[in-house]
Amino acid sequence: MNSKILVIGRIGQVGHELHRGVWPAGFTVDFLERPQLDLTRPDEARDIVVAARPDIVVNAAAHTAVDAAESERDTAVAINRDGPAMLADACREVGAVLVHYSTDYVYDGAKAGAYVETDPIAALSVYGASKAEGDAAIAARLKRHVILRTSWVYSATGHNFVKTMLRLGAERDRLGIVDDQHGSPTAAADIAAATIAVCAALAAGKDDGYGVFHFSGGGTTTWYGFAREIFRVAASHRLKTPRLVEPIATEAYPTPAERPRNSRLDCSKFARAYGIVAPSWQQSLSAVLDELIPLASPVEAA
Ligand SMILES: NC(=O)c1ccc[n+]([C@@H]2O[C@H](COP(=O)([O-])OP(=O)(O)OC[C@H]3O[C@@H](n4cnc5c(N)ncnc54)[C@H](OP(=O)(O)O)[C@@H]3O)[C@@H](O)[C@H]2O)c1
Repeated sequence: MNSKILVIGRIGQVGHELHRGVWPAGFTVDFLERPQLDLTRPDEARDIVVAARPDIVVNAAAHTAVDAAESERDTAVAINRDGPAMLADACREVGAVLVHYSTDYVYDGAKAGAYVETDPIAALSVYGASKAEGDAAIAARLKRHVILRTSWVYSATGHNFVKTMLRLGAERDRLGIVDDQHGSPTAAADIAAATIAVCAALAAGKDDGYGVFHFSGGGTTTWYGFAREIFRVAASHRLKTPRLVEPIATEAYPTPAERPRNSRLDCSKFARAYGIVAPSWQQSLSAVLDELIPLASPVEAA
């Protein structure tokens, strides 16, 4: 099974995990960082993809700064909508499949239960809208696409909630964390493992697994619940954690971008199509903390 894969966005959380992931024998996987392929330079980027003649392009690059996007709409749209549209065109030209990532923030959070892929798109933020437009642009241009719509991504690298909590936990005695936004933390390593399995299935000839799929960590929580679990594990490793962690309402922590109150994703379509289910969010968090905690200073609170 020989397959040529081109991964865009190597430095990001998911890109990093794809880079250190275990790919099947026979795969040639090339990774590009922003200086080599910049999605805001579409002509150059298209030429690079077409010249590489990959079987599968994995796009892990995105403008993910949710709050900054509110005041950087043009940049967010260029990277999250126009970049994927260009990649879809380039993939069609060379007969490649495009594997891409989307976000729970395409939904408005008003639904009572978990979102399914056919639920209406109604983003509350510029970031969410730009990602939704990217999904639509891909679907309009390229039949052979796999979009994994995921949520609350974290890893041992990059900027994310887990690393922020470990830092704030060492600095502060008291923290208020939002407890009325519900979703599923997802380890970038789990996304990478699912992506590699998708690529393996496609390379083996699977031809009935195209479209948008939800993929997030198993189980759901709130940011407060997520923080509590981070601090529980950190404290068990004798790291300093806040004396008091309080649940607060979204209104008490205003941000430039509005987030959905409910972004729980029903991942059963992906499980049916590819037979892949993510581990529980607690299990994956534990693996990431195992990597991060040895790097932190063990200063237990008095
Ligand atoms: N993070 C989350 O909580 C979350 C939640 C749901 C869905 N997602 C989706 O999951 C995917 C991966 O997210 P992530 O957390 O791994 O993202 P990330 O850590 O922010 O990484 C994004 C990557 O995109 C690159 N990039 C930004 N602008 C670029 C451009 N113009 N040209 C080429 N590369 C560019 C960045 O390069 P530089 O390092 O040079 O900036 C970085 O390598 C994205 O599609 C994201 O929308 C993320």
